[in-house]
Amino acid sequence: MNPRERFLSACRRQPVDRHPVWLMRQAGRYLPEYQELREKYDFLTICKRPDLILEASLQPWRRFGMDAVIIFSDILLPLHAMGARLTFEDGVGPRFESTVRTEKEIEKLEIPRARISFSYILEAIQNVRHEIKDNAALLGFVGAPWTLAAYLIEGGSGDFKAALNIMRESPGILSKLMDKITTAVTHLAVEQVRAGCDAIQIFDTWGGLLGPAQYRELALPHLKKISDEIRKAAAPAIIFIKKSSSLLEEMVDSGADVISIGTDLDLKDAISRVKDRRAVQGNLNPEILLRSASTVERETQKLLDVAGNRPGYIANLGHGVLPNTPVESVGAFVETVKRNAIA
Ligand code: CP3
Repeated sequence: MNPRERFLSACRRQPVDRHPVWLMRQAGRYLPEYQELREKYDFLTICKRPDLILEASLQPWRRFGMDAVIIFSDILLPLHAMGARLTFEDGVGPRFESTVRTEKEIEKLEIPRARISFSYILEAIQNVRHEIKDNAALLGFVGAPWTLAAYLIEGGSGDFKAALNIMRESPGILSKLMDKITTAVTHLAVEQVRAGCDAIQIFDTWGGLLGPAQYRELALPHLKKISDEIRKAAAPAIIFIKKSSSLLEEMVDSGADVISIGTDLDLKDAISRVKDRRAVQGNLNPEILLRSASTVERETQKLLDVAGNRPGYIANLGHGVLPNTPVESVGAFVETVKRNAIA
């Protein structure tokens, strides 16, 4: 079974020879070869040049041979294309030039024409596909409307109190903003599939700030639209929420084929709650990767023992790789999964 088939079979809950493995944030600062690239170019330059996107996307795969390559980009870039000027500063993270909180500010946001505004991502996808052939699945991704709206309202990283306030006080405004974001990211997701991506991960990192009823009312209708269009483009969708224990049923109802669970939940509980309705991805705590290789092997083996021969499991972390992670730990994680053939 080649890695592309293995990954797609797992998404569809079909039998595999072993569980596929990749890591959220597998490209990035923990890799010496990425640090070398960053000495020459800033983050946004890498994100905008097809040749550098290709290089950054392939770096972890060349070293560790994960079953999936995720295209190197950021969930916040589409907001920049919508007119919200974005910068990334070392040690500060993402910052928007101004916040988006009023109806007037929302009206000013544009819906980018994906093929033109994101041509550099789409070109890089074609090139990555050409390089990896069937030796890895290729993942595209978008941010979910709630998480992206929260960053826009906040003006960057933060506690997202402003977004929660707008939700309580002017839900109509929030819903207008999320509508616009939904249209933009849906186009981007579909174009990523057309350019050669096998599956799309939807990052709703901050979904857990909402309660289940709020999530169902506010976030779910938008997610369903996005996953419907991804399905029509014939690719599976993966939904990720960082604090997912209270939102599992909502994730099942999001229309996504794969539920990517955070670290606030035991894999065993997640599987017993999701049952055979969806594939499940996750959820080694990224902090485990800061410990010894033998600890990584032991903890990874525990996840694999829980997953057993279940069709529909993808080994991954519960959140992204931390910047100070030793490369050996990532190697130990990937190799432990690869050693576990399914009888
Ligand atoms: O390897 C991969 O996963 C592919 C690339 C990728 C990046 N960001 C590159 C990146 C992906 C899938 C993301 C998703 C992303 N970006 C999310 C959702 C997943 C999650 O981690 O919760 C979010 C919330 C963002 C927004 C973002 N981007 C923040 C808050 C920051 C600053 C904090 C940080 O981790 O540095 C970024 C910067 C960023 N995105 C970097 C990378 C490699 C670091 C940039 C650098 O090189 O300095």
